[in-house]
Amino acid sequence: MWNEIDQHMQHWIREAGERIRDAFQTKLKIETKSSPSDLVTNVDREIEQFFIERIRRTYPTHHVLGEEGFGDQLEALDGTVWIIDPIDGTMNFVHQQRHFAISVGVFHDGVGMLGYIYDVAFDELYYAQKGKGAFLNGTPLPPLEKTTLDRSIISLNATWVTENRRIDPHVLAPLVKKARGTRSYGSAALEMAYIASGKLDAYITLRLSPWDIAGGMVIVEEVGGVVTNLYGEPLNMIEKSSVFVSKPGLHEEILAMIKR
Ligand code: IPD
Ligand code: CA
Ligand code: CA
Repeated sequence: MWNEIDQHMQHWIREAGERIRDAFQTKLKIETKSSPSDLVTNVDREIEQFFIERIRRTYPTHHVLGEEGFGDQLEALDGTVWIIDPIDGTMNFVHQQRHFAISVGVFHDGVGMLGYIYDVAFDELYYAQKGKGAFLNGTPLPPLEKTTLDRSIISLNATWVTENRRIDPHVLAPLVKKARGTRSYGSAALEMAYIASGKLDAYITLRLSPWDIAGGMVIVEEVGGVVTNLYGEPLNMIEKSSVFVSKPGLHEEILAMIKR
């Protein structure tokens, strides 16, 4: 069953990517949601509807949790649930026409079975099936090796080391000092894909929704990466949460610094 779903999804996600690339030629309708920097476009909505239409037609018993609200209202992850972010990194999509991704995770009774992150502008599809390995455009991704902070590039938004509502900036500042470098790409899904493929070593953020991370979680875990909240606890994929994704070894080192 998972192979069959994967075959459908490989098709659908590339078709959705083509639609997004075509939309670059059109005028976007841009609106704001919870704040002036929380953007949504007609393309985000159309792509979510594109997936939901195909999922409902092909798998009528499956459920869908989608960022733009065209899916189901779910309170638990019972059965098979598709968790969809049609465009992760909408601000980048609008301002840069790159550095955004389609992110989809397929969970069964709460366990991540399939994960997809499609970097539309670069035509790079990261995907994984639980127990079957992770791939980038058909090439297997090797298992992640242990590393240490002084040899790492960590990804985090500068917000978290300034005054903010969610964390004392002094908690993360020592990590920024000790790391080899820091980056901030503005797409949680891509940041997870970069960890899975060795381009980044850790990613820390204080508040994400299940659709930001569902695809990435399956892919990162498949190559031996660790996905928890900022306090090292397992994520509840039905709620917003802090997220800490890392190579093995580095996860313990950073947790010890945060808890100190
Ligand atoms: C956002 C991106 C961003 C993260 C935000 C998310 P969206 O997703 O993943 O990197 O910092 O918290 O909301 O809104 O572009 O799908
Ligand atoms: Ca998102
Ligand atoms: Ca989104």
